[in-house]
Amino acid sequence: MAGFLIKTFGCQFNQLYSAMITDALIRGGHRSSESLGEASLVIINTCAVREKAEEKAFSFLGEAAMVVGASHIVFMGCTATLDRERAVRIAGRGLNVVEGTAAVEQVLAVVGTVVPVGELDCTPPRSLFPTADIELMRGCEGYCTYCIVPRSRGPEVIVDVGEVLHRAERAIGSSFSELLFLGQNINRYRSRLGGLVEIMSSVDELDGNFWFWFLSSHPANFTPEEVRRLMELRHIEHRLHLPLQSGSDRILERMNRRYTIADYARLAEPVRENADWTLTTDIIVGFPGETDDDFAHTVDAVRGFRFDGVFLAKYSDRPGTPSSRMQDKVPLALIDERHSALLRIVQDLSEQSNQVLAGKFVDVLVLAVPAGSDAFGKSIDGRNVWFSCSEPVPGIGTIVNVAIDHGSREGLHGTRVC
Ligand code: 5AD
Ligand code: SF4
Repeated sequence: MAGFLIKTFGCQFNQLYSAMITDALIRGGHRSSESLGEASLVIINTCAVREKAEEKAFSFLGEAAMVVGASHIVFMGCTATLDRERAVRIAGRGLNVVEGTAAVEQVLAVVGTVVPVGELDCTPPRSLFPTADIELMRGCEGYCTYCIVPRSRGPEVIVDVGEVLHRAERAIGSSFSELLFLGQNINRYRSRLGGLVEIMSSVDELDGNFWFWFLSSHPANFTPEEVRRLMELRHIEHRLHLPLQSGSDRILERMNRRYTIADYARLAEPVRENADWTLTTDIIVGFPGETDDDFAHTVDAVRGFRFDGVFLAKYSDRPGTPSSRMQDKVPLALIDERHSALLRIVQDLSEQSNQVLAGKFVDVLVLAVPAGSDAFGKSIDGRNVWFSCSEPVPGIGTIVNVAIDHGSREGLHGTRVC
């Protein structure tokens, strides 16, 4: 039987949906194939956050249409929602387009018209072992002016607290070592128990040997008190990802982020005061109207908060967003220049942050044990760790203790001690 190929772009949500589809197809007796030539079904799960990812998806769609034909392709995700016409123009009329942030069940119904699929079981997929991704919310009503997500993913939908706890319990019971809770703007989670802190506290009380963390926070919907309470939980990983986007209050306002640098500093304080915790962020360079002075404020903020890791993006104009209608666009050459300058600073900060751990011992969740090279995992504060280990080789999903020899820009390097 010919196989299926899933190409996934973008965020953790897309990774989760693709993994669930993969699982269902494998249970339905299909096999995953590596190349277009061997595939009789191609699923393209798209992301619209930046133009580059979109262009890659369209170019892959064109390639796939030539090899397998439009009727054997399912085009899903944010770009499918926003630009169905272009997809059909590229691939041809027979293309299967799934619009909206459809539930996996809906996607499988369409997939089922191409190849037979089995029953979907909503256990977190084993293929992401040892991490179980669990949705708390879908959609976003943040309306940051640069962002396409509120249009592509639609309004917020909250997953019932009972369902979340049930999924968490099942994941722990099936030996997942790490739970990752997902929401575009997770601080807006609400349930009969309360908000994010309350549901995370309930997860923390579950029995078992597991770590958990959550993505993504929005500074405007978070309080320092909540940060402190989360940091006290027993099973929580020692890291906070708190997107800053810009170091200039003026630009934050134009982005409709609804916080100032001073607000952000109050949230970051508990994390920065605790050497066992890391702080990571997202920054966009070259937002419309960003002056040299605004950019200098971003550089100061990145240095001042001593971020352990920064996801740096060049501003990408997304059709239909409020910022796409702003007149004072930053020239691409200047965006490139600012991006390179900030990237060097960010990389230096990551290196310094990792070097501090030389000579220390850290707990590491094992993620890969390739034959003939170092094992790979991540530390409880979210750093990449490469380590050598003698027999017996640790299993994926186990937690081992590693003596750190040195730190680099990419992470930590050491030797397993037990
Ligand atoms: N251009 C550049 N980066 C963007 N992001 C979201 N929209 C855009 C855009 N139009 C980045 C933000 C967000 C991350 C997921 O993607 O930094 O936090
Ligand atoms: Fe986009 Fe802002 Fe919503 Fe995040 S909070 S998904 S950046 S609109």
